[in-house]
Amino acid sequence: MKLFTTISEMQNYLLSQRAEGKSIGFVPTMGALHQGHLTLVNRSHTENDLTACSIFVNPIQFNNREDLEKYPRTLNSDAKLLEAHGCDVLFAPEAAEMYPENETPFLDIEFGMLDKVMEGKFRPGHFRGVAIVVKRLFDIVQPSRAYFGKKDFQQLAIINHMVKSLSIPVEIIPCDTVREPDGLAMSSRNMRLTITERNLAPKIYEILLNVKNSVGKIPVPELREWAIKKIEEDPALKVEYFEIGDKDSLMPIVHWNHKQQAMAFTAVLLGNVRLIDNVELFS
Ligand code: PAF
Repeated sequence: MKLFTTISEMQNYLLSQRAEGKSIGFVPTMGALHQGHLTLVNRSHTENDLTACSIFVNPIQFNNREDLEKYPRTLNSDAKLLEAHGCDVLFAPEAAEMYPENETPFLDIEFGMLDKVMEGKFRPGHFRGVAIVVKRLFDIVQPSRAYFGKKDFQQLAIINHMVKSLSIPVEIIPCDTVREPDGLAMSSRNMRLTITERNLAPKIYEILLNVKNSVGKIPVPELREWAIKKIEEDPALKVEYFEIGDKDSLMPIVHWNHKQQAMAFTAVLLGNVRLIDNVELFS
């Protein structure tokens, strides 16, 4: 596996590969890799001639300094895992390479309500930061396909919107959330949970599944209230939001008409670790 830290090295290498007619699959990450990321890498490996990954803890998508500082950085072990799962080239730049001094990152796109609801409400500026870095990474890598997990479903909606608005020639491949055997969605943040918190964390998915079983039988506002109450039964769990929303617009649904493709989304604070998860309420 090749490892590059500068944009020009990465671009030159991929230029030569593209000239040979190779398709490029791309998995952008912030490192601290787990099975969820590796599933994306495996999939890219089977669907493309070459798989490129990036590891970059993107400062402009953190709206909380402490979260940025505490974000796990495990480049050496990540690189080994990527190589073992079929990654051909890893791009791991420093912040100064991605955001040269005196340059204010800018992206001229309106996201409508997509970046205002749920995560957007609690993490102002987060999705613009994600879109800016993903656009920049796409410009550098120029992938045929790019792989994203559905755990960050709102991020996926933002990226799909950006790709459409800017006519970026890349196919976005959404991949199912990978879960621990007890149901907890895999996340780099899980490693910051204490043992007690880790034991409580599967409750989030358990309640999402209960909601999936009850939608259509109980009115949506009641179901939402029940879910929040149930999650917060343990005082260590604090719900930031629990929403039942439309799969495409992400807008909250108040009256579900049995046809609309709805999803349940939640963000929960467990100690000082913020966990998000979602389930499709249709099948
Ligand atoms: O999902 C992530 O890990 C990040 O938001 C991404 C897409 C790599 C952009 O920094």
